[in-house]
Amino acid sequence: MKIKELALTNYRNYQELSLTFGDGLTIITGENAQGKTNLLEAIFLLSLAKSHRTNHDQELIQWEEELATLQATITTEHFEFPLELILNKKGKIAKLNHIEQSKLSHFIGKFNVILFAPEDLQLIKGSPSLRRKFIDSELGQSHPVYLQELLSYQRILKQRNAYLKQYGRTSQFDDIYFEILTEQLVEKATLVIKYRVKFIEELERIAEPIHRDLSNQREQLKIIYQSSSSKLEYNDLKDIEAQLLALFKQALNREKEQGITVYGPHRDDIIFYINDKKAQFFGSQGQQRTIVLSIKLAELELFHNMTGEYPVLLLDDVLSELDDNRQMILMSHIEDKVQTFLTTASIEGIKLHELKNADILYVEKGQISRGESA
Ligand SMILES: Nc1ncnc2c1ncn2[C@@H]1O[C@H](COP(=O)(O)OP(=O)(O)OP(=O)(O)O)[C@@H](O)[C@H]1O
Ligand SMILES: [Mg+2]
Repeated sequence: MKIKELALTNYRNYQELSLTFGDGLTIITGENAQGKTNLLEAIFLLSLAKSHRTNHDQELIQWEEELATLQATITTEHFEFPLELILNKKGKIAKLNHIEQSKLSHFIGKFNVILFAPEDLQLIKGSPSLRRKFIDSELGQSHPVYLQELLSYQRILKQRNAYLKQYGRTSQFDDIYFEILTEQLVEKATLVIKYRVKFIEELERIAEPIHRDLSNQREQLKIIYQSSSSKLEYNDLKDIEAQLLALFKQALNREKEQGITVYGPHRDDIIFYINDKKAQFFGSQGQQRTIVLSIKLAELELFHNMTGEYPVLLLDDVLSELDDNRQMILMSHIEDKVQTFLTTASIEGIKLHELKNADILYVEKGQISRGESA
């Protein structure tokens, strides 16, 4: 899948922009605050109808203006189609094949991108809730049923927590009612955990060799879906339901005291290991970056396995901390198959453009000029 043409009006600091893109690597370079990330954000927006940087669409419209438009032509192996987004003060209009879509969900995901931005390092360094969000959004996109199971789980969890809280206030407790709630919770928890464990296994299977390659065979990546209790083992998926039930029996008094459900997928985490050391604590900046890159490249492959198409890859300012070797191997993974846009303030640190016919765009105050092909 490729984005062939892009036209912007009154979008961020681009008043008027019309560009055609090559199929391979496009390097977007320029000083700080000139519009490099804005350009990637525009491409991202055409995929998800939402910015990765803000929830306020208003911020995307050029200051003092009323209306921003983004237009693109997308090509896949078999089709070519136009996409359009119009943002105004009241909201947004999304068009596919020139036809306004009554539901945004009919627009979202027609064009697919994978973005790697500096914020994504939080996947390693940030809190467990970010990692659960990552898993949920990945699985939600590939398995809509998963989202339904997750929502059921969350609904029962809320009910169960509310019951535990009311016990704290009233000291009234119906053992049988609570047991039923627990059984329902465990049933959904088991489903959610199974989906997640399988997804993480699949992700590791694909990301591990990529990471090994990127690190010149020096680093072994392990990704483990970790349960909320040391007494809970996810090795045997058949066993999870029984384990959870036993655990909840043991935890009853604690739960009554704390007024909250202490175990379950809402407290699980993903742990990344490099050569058996936890990357969150012991990984260098470059190693952490390499993990995220390996995961993003694995996502490309997962998507390709599912649909036969590669999404467009957007790399915002993430290459500067990768050594030359890692950059070259990255290139070998995307070469000839993935249309890639990468931003950098300084092109000197980027070795990739020496390799291939990269298209270089220079950005200055929302104006773009094209460099010589490298
Ligand atoms: N709604 C808007 N209207 C006009 N200009 C805007 C708007 N929103 C942002 N900008 C301008 O865009 C600039 C930021 O652009 P962008 O984030 O793309 O920079 P960048 O080239 O990626 O810089 P860096 O190298 O620092 O990451 C801001 O400094 C601001 O001047
Ligand atoms: Mg930027």
